[in-house]
Amino acid sequence: MNKLRIMSVFGTRPEAIKMAPLVKELKTREGIESLCCVTAQHREMLDSVMDVFGLTADRDLDIMTPRQTLSTIASKCLTGMDGVIEDLKPDMILVHGDTSTTFAGALSAFYHQVPVGHVEAGLRTYDKYSPFPEEMNRKLVTQIADLYFCPTKNNRDNLLREGVTDGGFVTGNTVIDALKTTVREDYRFATDALNELDYQGKKIVLVTCHRRENYGEPMEHIFTALRDLALQNEDAELVYPVHLSPVVREAVGKHLAGTPRVHLIDPLPADEMHNLMARAYLVMTDSGGLQEEAPALGKPVLVLRRETERPEAVEAGTVAMAGVEYADVLRMGNELLRDSAAYAKMARAVNPYGDGNACRRIADAIEWHFGRREAGPED
Ligand code: UD1
Ligand code: UDP
Repeated sequence: MNKLRIMSVFGTRPEAIKMAPLVKELKTREGIESLCCVTAQHREMLDSVMDVFGLTADRDLDIMTPRQTLSTIASKCLTGMDGVIEDLKPDMILVHGDTSTTFAGALSAFYHQVPVGHVEAGLRTYDKYSPFPEEMNRKLVTQIADLYFCPTKNNRDNLLREGVTDGGFVTGNTVIDALKTTVREDYRFATDALNELDYQGKKIVLVTCHRRENYGEPMEHIFTALRDLALQNEDAELVYPVHLSPVVREAVGKHLAGTPRVHLIDPLPADEMHNLMARAYLVMTDSGGLQEEAPALGKPVLVLRRETERPEAVEAGTVAMAGVEYADVLRMGNELLRDSAAYAKMARAVNPYGDGNACRRIADAIEWHFGRREAGPED
C-alpha cells in the first residue's frame, strides 16, 4: 500500500513549536510520509524553533519581509503553495491555529482539492476583530477543513454549535507534547543573562506582548503599567524577550528601555523560554501559547488582553484577565507580587490543555480517516 503523504504547513514561531512534535510523531508511522512546508512568515523566530526541535523543511517559501501586511503574507503564501502542492502531491495538508499562514495554507489546499486537517481547531472569542485577524482566520479554516483536532471539549462544543458535526476529535493541545520534551529540572541556560538571574531571592515576572490588536494605545498602557510595576516592586525582576516586530520593538524602546529591574532581551529559543517559564514566579502576556504552557507549569498568568479564546484555565483559576488598561494591569500585577494568599490561590498546576499525547491521537485519527487503522483515537 502507498504511504500517505501528510504535509504540515506552518510559518510562525507558535505554529512551529506546536507542530514540531506532530511532524515527528507522523515520521514514526510506517504508513505515513511526513512532509513539512514552511512559509517562513517568521524567519529568525521560525528558524530557531526548527533548530531546537531538529526539524528540516522539505519546502521553504521564505516569504517574510519587514513590516509585512496581512495581504502580502496571504498572497505570497498562496502563490508559493501552488508549486509545492503540485510538486509534493500531499494526500492531506495539516495547518495549525489561526495565523495568516494557517488561513492561506488551508485555502491553497482547497484550491487544489487536497483535504485539510486543522490542528488546534474550535477556539473562539466570537469577536470578529479580537484577536485580529486570528478569530476570522480560524473561522474561515473551519469552513475549509475536513478533520478538526480540538485541544479541549469546549473547543469541540464550539464547532458542534456551528454545525460541524463530522471530523471532530478532542485531542489535547500539542503544546503540552512539546513542553514534555523541553522542560528539565537540571536545565542550564545557554543565554548568560538567564543564568545570572536570582530565581530564589527575586520574583521573576516573565513578560511577552505582541498582538496586532494591542498595537498603539493598548501597548502604551500595558508598557507604562509594567514600568511602574518594576519601579514599585524592588523584589521583582521583569524579563521580557521582545518579539522581532518593529512595531513592538519601537513601543518597548519608548516605554520600557532603561527601567530598573526590566530586562529586555531578544526572543528566546523555545527550550530556553519553556525552562525560564518553569522557574518564573508570574507570567504577564498577550500570547496564546503562554496561556496554555504556564498553567501546565503551575505559573499564574495575567492576560494582557480584553478577551481570551482559552477560557479553560481562567475557569480553573490559574489565568486571570488583566485587560489593557494601565490601572488594571498595575493593580493586578501588584496584587500577585504582594499578596501571597492571592498568589497561592492561582499558583496551581492544572492541565486543561491535555496530557501530552495529543500528537499520537492526531496521527491515529488521520490513519483512521484514511482507513489505515481499525479504531479511531480515544478522546
Ligand atoms: C504573527 C501572527 C500571530 C501570532 C504571532 C506569533 C498573523 C497575522 N499573525 O504575528 O497570530 O500570534 O505571529 O508570534 O499571522 N519579524 C522578524 N523576524 C521574525 C518574525 C517577525 O523580523 O522572525 C518581524 C518582521 O518585520 C515582520 C513583523 O515582525 O514583518 C511581523 O510579523 P508577522 O508575522 O506579520 O506578525 P506577528 O505580529 O509576528
Ligand atoms: N516563545 C519562545 N521564545 C520567546 C517567546 C515565546 O520560544 O521569546 C514561545 C512560547 O513559549 C510559546 C510560543 O513561543 O510556545 C508562543 O508564541 P507567540 O507568543 O509568539 O505567539 P502566540 O502564542 O501568541 O500565537
